[in-house]
Amino acid sequence: MAQSHADARLEEAVGLAAAINLQVAHAEVIRLDKPRPATLLGMGVIERLRDTVQETHAVVVVVDSSLTPVQQRNLERELDCKVIDRTGLILEIFGARARTKEGRLQVQLAALNYQRSRLVRSWTHLERQRGGAGFMGGPGERQIELDRRMLDEQIVRLKKALQQVRRTRSLHRSARQRVPYPVIALVGYTNAGKSTLFNRLASAEVKAEDQLFATLDPTMRGIQLPSGLEAILSDTVGFITDLPTDLVAAFRATLEEVVAADVILHVRDVSHPETELHKQSVLQVLHDLGVTGEDAPDAKPLIEVFNKIDLLDQEQRESWQALADRGPGQVMVSAVTGEGTDFLQEIIEQRLREQDELLSLAIDLKDGATLAWCYEHGRVVSRHDDESKAHIRVSLDPANAARLKAYRA
Ligand code: GTP
Repeated sequence: MAQSHADARLEEAVGLAAAINLQVAHAEVIRLDKPRPATLLGMGVIERLRDTVQETHAVVVVVDSSLTPVQQRNLERELDCKVIDRTGLILEIFGARARTKEGRLQVQLAALNYQRSRLVRSWTHLERQRGGAGFMGGPGERQIELDRRMLDEQIVRLKKALQQVRRTRSLHRSARQRVPYPVIALVGYTNAGKSTLFNRLASAEVKAEDQLFATLDPTMRGIQLPSGLEAILSDTVGFITDLPTDLVAAFRATLEEVVAADVILHVRDVSHPETELHKQSVLQVLHDLGVTGEDAPDAKPLIEVFNKIDLLDQEQRESWQALADRGPGQVMVSAVTGEGTDFLQEIIEQRLREQDELLSLAIDLKDGATLAWCYEHGRVVSRHDDESKAHIRVSLDPANAARLKAYRA
């Protein structure tokens, strides 16, 4: 592995650990000349790591690679602390991020399949130890067989539950349409700066007493755009290289908000040498989710955010600026210094307004509440009253338009 690639992977792993609020006390790239079947790492490395664990009072060691159950157990014993591997870490992140019922079920399913594959692996391992003689199953085998059957049953149950949830998904959709605020989803490669940007954009927090804002979980925040338009900003799990294939479905399931969003912000670290590759993998996932592309069923406006411009030299800055100048689809910002974020907010607002719907309504003059609501939540473009009704044309964002239509249906 080239050093720069290894360093990039390490940086990514540190970002992943931070995503589940682990404080990283120490991180290093370890060259493996000969992987040890029992511990993956050599004894010398393990001894050194044991000292580091003690010095830093670490409670968990993350190995950014795949560990067999035996390796994991041996390492835990040698290092005297919890050890998790890459798949384990990613599952933790997905578990923490999944919000909808479907997302949680998908993650549980992936976790069970993961455990099951590890059982099967230790099973073959035992078989090998017996030299393939194949007579008499010891207690260990029976235990494994039992564990496996229990996992299988759980997997079947989860799959059924998932089917059920999918059947009722259309109900979720219509519930979502009653959310009275447009949703802006942040997506991007891990470490691109989504959370930093999220915090910066959300710093001018709305003080709305609205119940909805009060109940939002920490990855969602109510924000107010320059002209007063209120919206929900939603942070998502970072995209990752080499996602184990059995985790792909679980990963997608953590991205439901993206499918339900009104605008997508694709945050990029343009100071990163692999920024183009990262962009392509993000776009591929968005495409697979059906939110970008010509015939996408749920196509959304996409704003590409060139982040970390404070790290660029003059020449790089000019070439990114030239790209950004080509159209309103790209914006240069630094989430850390705040440069460009005012402009970004204006662009977001503009893209949201582009989707506004113009509704023509005849509202009973006695229905003062609905009329007042239209003035409060939309822009009343024209109005003429007859004896009993007000005939108005009002421009509303998609969420409010859906709300009003549902109310009057
Ligand atoms: P994941 O949660 O792993 O997906 O990462 P993320 O995309 O949320 O990235 P995060 O906001 O955690 O930022 C990653 C690192 O980049 C942090 O160390 C930030 O301080 C840094 N960072 C984010 N934005 C900027 C920026 O505009 N300039 C500079 N110099 N650093 C930034």
